[in-house]
Amino acid sequence: LIKMDVDKIGPTIQPTMYGVFFEDINFGADGGLYAELIKNRSFEFEYPFTGWTPFGDVSIRSDKPCFDRNPLYARLINRKQLTGTGLINEGFKGIGIKTNEKYDLSFYARTLKNETMKLKIEMVSDKNDIIESKEVSINSKPWNKYMITFAPMQTCSKSSIRITMLTTGVLDIEHISLFPQETFNNRSNGLRKDLAMALKDLKPGVFRFPGGCIVEGTDLSTRYQWKNTIGPVENRPININRWNYTFSHKKFPDYYQSYGLGFYEYFVLSEDIGAEPLPVLNCGLSCQYENIDPNQNCPVDKLEPYIEDALDLIEFANGPITSTWGKIRADMGHPAPFNLKMIAIGNEQWGTLYTERLEPFVKAIRAKYPNIKIIGSSGPQAEGKDFDFLWPEMKRIGVDLVDEHYYRSPEWFLSNANRYDSYDRNGPKVFAGEYACHAPDKENSFLTALSEAAFMTGLERNADVVHLCTYAPLFAHKEAWQWRPDLIWFDNLSFVKTPNYYVQQLFGNNAGTHVLALTKNGKAVSGQQNLYATAASDATDNTLIIKIANTGIDQKKISFILEGLKAGIHAVTLTHLNSSDLNAKNSFETPDLITPKVVHSEINDNKMDIALPPLSFTILRIAR
Ligand code: AHR
Repeated sequence: LIKMDVDKIGPTIQPTMYGVFFEDINFGADGGLYAELIKNRSFEFEYPFTGWTPFGDVSIRSDKPCFDRNPLYARLINRKQLTGTGLINEGFKGIGIKTNEKYDLSFYARTLKNETMKLKIEMVSDKNDIIESKEVSINSKPWNKYMITFAPMQTCSKSSIRITMLTTGVLDIEHISLFPQETFNNRSNGLRKDLAMALKDLKPGVFRFPGGCIVEGTDLSTRYQWKNTIGPVENRPININRWNYTFSHKKFPDYYQSYGLGFYEYFVLSEDIGAEPLPVLNCGLSCQYENIDPNQNCPVDKLEPYIEDALDLIEFANGPITSTWGKIRADMGHPAPFNLKMIAIGNEQWGTLYTERLEPFVKAIRAKYPNIKIIGSSGPQAEGKDFDFLWPEMKRIGVDLVDEHYYRSPEWFLSNANRYDSYDRNGPKVFAGEYACHAPDKENSFLTALSEAAFMTGLERNADVVHLCTYAPLFAHKEAWQWRPDLIWFDNLSFVKTPNYYVQQLFGNNAGTHVLALTKNGKAVSGQQNLYATAASDATDNTLIIKIANTGIDQKKISFILEGLKAGIHAVTLTHLNSSDLNAKNSFETPDLITPKVVHSEINDNKMDIALPPLSFTILRIAR
């Protein structure tokens, strides 16, 4: 018998409770969410032809560039060579195009003389079919922008773009870009609609960006610097991706951040999916996994530019259009403030190296923006990096929240469902900023999803101390990943929602507004007979919500008493996510193997008997 007292309203569940964490790992941004289809569009990779196959006479130059911060461009010379002259772009593991969509191809070009040059631009399938072909005339001595629209005649996940000179002479070309016309919310320089919709469907309360380790960089020179990610996309200097080095043994790096998806776009996306933006900034330390040499870090007395970046970011997000950074935001198309409420300083940092840097940030932000919430880090829990030192330090320094990360086993997730029961209620709140259950095979199996669901009931039961939580990582390209498991897998045309995604979605869509006590023999339901549960009321639609995971292999018949529920009939919706196979996963071949199933029912008065399937996670929504 499980008891719930429907009138004993407990702690508030923060609207930010369930969110998403986005990092450009596994081709999550370039080649993923960011809808740009051309790889190395501005020829700025270390080997400038990465992603390109030049033919004929093609060279890379930088004199009199079109964009000062991305100065490299390609010079094409056609002297009627047999091969012709041109360039082919391979995209990100191919270019995915769909037959009933339109695509805008744009580029900058100039001629050296007053003459008209002609280019042929083709979409070519992996079987060498010409899917679409257009001719463009170039007749500008100074750099000029050109644009054509493609309506491909075939769907192809691995097409390429071929640019061929049709006239003899010399032509310079730069920033060659291809976007689907339809992007998420139809924004220019936009995002892949299907992937962004999948984020919106989670109903996230918070959106943490841009990392993760890429905030730190492999060293400080490659750290994420948000000021490089705003303004016209053509002039955002690219940066090597810190994840380039993981599992990549190529001679030349091929995983860069174009920053086309930059801080402005992250703020707009947060707004578009209804989530509070949560930027993470570098605290003057490079990744402590890569580099624990204190001399490689920014000395504490030289932190000023880093702190200034944090203060300027708050002005960029919230400042009036008359302020320096607020004006830049307005000029980019968003005069209204983004209403930033919180900021995180540092990712997975530990020791005094971190705390002595965090402290001056906190002082400076508090002095100028007392209402902004500041999030500190407690280091990665996987290795238990001096957690006992950091929490008291976080309290002393006075951060509002502490970001905890854990990539742990199914057993750990189950035994930590009580983790927050004993946390200090008078200290900083908790942000479970990166977590994922890692089974030995590192797959997104049902086992991992069910373990996360059980664990998350403990987050919600402790909503007075846990204010935010975000799974990690979010995206992975099926041919270009560095880390797994991940919430959403995609290729160039489609994507797969993992069972873990559905767990996140069930929590996000059924968050509720206040915790209600749910007890079995006077105790929270957390592990007894393999049951893990939490309950909430939802003041927005006057419903009661029970979330319950059955990690046992037997069906459970459960009687609920909902004390205080008025007499009469109450509609109940049960949503089950279950599988008899703990190793089952959704794949590109069977994407819907594990999906939530909805059953409608009703209860009379305040008693409810239900049967929980074996190995299941169930949401009950009861009209009051
Ligand atoms: O989510 C993948 C990585 O895990 C993040 O970049 C980092 O913060 C953590 O180590």
